[in-house]
Amino acid sequence: LCCRADIALIGLAVMGQNIILNMNDHGFVVCAYNRTVEKVDRFLANEAKGTKIIGAKSLEDMVAKLKKPRRVMMLVKAGSAVDAFIDKLVPLLEAGDIIIDGGNSEYTDSIRRCKSLDEKGLLFVGSGVSGGEDGARYGPSLMPGGAPAAWPHIKKIFQGIAAKADGEPCCDWVGEDGAGHYVKMVHNGIEYGDMQLICETYHIMRDMLKMDNDEISGVFAEWNKTELDSFLIEITTDITKFKDTDGNHLLDKIRDAAGQKGTGKWTAISALQFGMPLTLIGESVFARCLSALKDERVVASKQLSGPEVTFTGDKATFLQDLKQALYASKIISYAQGFMLMREAAKEFKWKLNYGGIALMWRGGCIIRSAFLGKIKDAFDKNANLTNLLMDDFFKAAITNAQPGWRRVLSAAVMNGIPTPCLSTALSFYDGYRLEKLPANLIQAQRDYFGAHTYELLSEPGKFHHTNWTGHGGNISSSSYNA
Ligand SMILES: *[C@@H]1O[C@H](CO)[C@@H](O)[C@H](O)[C@H]1NC(C)=O
Ligand SMILES: *[C@@H]1O[C@H](CO)[C@@H](O)[C@H](O)[C@H]1NC(C)=O
Ligand SMILES: *[C@@H]1O[C@H](CO)[C@@H](O)[C@H](O)[C@H]1NC(C)=O
Ligand SMILES: *[C@@H]1O[C@H](CO)[C@@H](O)[C@H](O)[C@H]1NC(C)=O
Ligand SMILES: *[C@@H]1O[C@H](CO)[C@@H](O)[C@H](O)[C@H]1NC(C)=O
Repeated sequence: LCCRADIALIGLAVMGQNIILNMNDHGFVVCAYNRTVEKVDRFLANEAKGTKIIGAKSLEDMVAKLKKPRRVMMLVKAGSAVDAFIDKLVPLLEAGDIIIDGGNSEYTDSIRRCKSLDEKGLLFVGSGVSGGEDGARYGPSLMPGGAPAAWPHIKKIFQGIAAKADGEPCCDWVGEDGAGHYVKMVHNGIEYGDMQLICETYHIMRDMLKMDNDEISGVFAEWNKTELDSFLIEITTDITKFKDTDGNHLLDKIRDAAGQKGTGKWTAISALQFGMPLTLIGESVFARCLSALKDERVVASKQLSGPEVTFTGDKATFLQDLKQALYASKIISYAQGFMLMREAAKEFKWKLNYGGIALMWRGGCIIRSAFLGKIKDAFDKNANLTNLLMDDFFKAAITNAQPGWRRVLSAAVMNGIPTPCLSTALSFYDGYRLEKLPANLIQAQRDYFGAHTYELLSEPGKFHHTNWTGHGGNISSSSYNA
């Protein structure tokens, strides 16, 4: 029994059990461990019966059963539980052994753990795991980052159990220390954006075009056959037509107050820290916050007025426009997400493989879509692409989508349908594509009240201050900071 397991897995909640069974299916011998030992026995006697999976009664027992270098993967609750297991594992392991955290850890924790284990000669991997319970069992999207020396030792297992898209594994090495968990965080942020964009198109169909659920489902089913082909459009097709036991649509009975666990918020916070205009994900987080004020909205709905909804155009034509608005906004969201990752890479000195990231998201995870294949192509064509919008394919797609996108937003505004993400995407696009923004006035204002200085168009890099008022003395114009 000694030294024959390829990998150990700590934490036998559903995700852990499913990953173990997935690894077993792919020919790897897994040693299962849970702090509650009965849990291990029960797993071996039930779900793992008749497999090559072995169990461990203690961490010592588990470590003794592993091949070297030892590979230990944790799927435990993010936070102090991860540190507690690491502390218990360290004395049992030797130089070159690998500890993998597959939980939903914050990337800053992974940076810290990678550094502290490196000092002890151990290799740390923080891996994003996406795809839920089904993904874990039959093929998740895996985003491993950490100590690069660990990758050759875990590559076969990770790429073996990962989802496959167009025959390629949705798993590759992401980058150093916290890069894997960072990319997983951005994935979740993008998921927030994709979901909110779909909701806005649903809102327009429901309240402006006055379509019923089955009709709306039909539109999503059509969109699923186009460049919008994706898991989220697919499940939305199912959800919009789903009937409750009483024969009525379940969707209409669900309270419109969105919850959130925080990964969208973390992505937005990171964007603010790095000064990246991640406007769409930011709006998607705020849209959930606004929805959660349900009680206040109910009161306000009886007091605050808006326009009457009067749609008179051609519905089929408008639906074409709506699809273009969704597609263009989605392109903007991904362009922003990759801008954020590029900035984080610069900050943390990660060598991120952007095409590889698109491929990791191509299958297995919640944002999986045909569209990510196009992003992969764009980075394959030019690994140094500064912005997705500069790629010929996406440039053409946005150009083509633009007239319909603008028509949809005009109509939504006139009819009082909120479109925070569809709108912010267009504002971003218009801002990014303009040579001249009105920030010359911001600079003048800052210099006027705070002597913050400005550059001239004719000589960037050289800072000037103007005595705008001709009075006020030295104090008011040079020491105020805002
Ligand atoms: C043990 O298994 C239970 C599920 O039954 C899970 O909730 C718990 O997190 C696991 N604990 C560890 C750390 O192994
Ligand atoms: C969406 O498209 C995919 C293929 O691209 C297909 O497998 C799936 O069944 C479609 N889903 C729906 C609900 O139409
Ligand atoms: C991308 O940039 C790197 C480093 O700046 C450079 O070495 C490489 O040649 C560039 N690749 C392409 C395809 O331009
Ligand atoms: C601005 O101009 C006024 C009037 O000439 C002068 O009194 C004041 O000191 C100037 N302030 C600065 C900071 O140069
Ligand atoms: C204002 O600043 C100038 C230049 O630094 C200095 O020569 C002058 O004495 C200052 N005036 C006052 C009133 O502090």
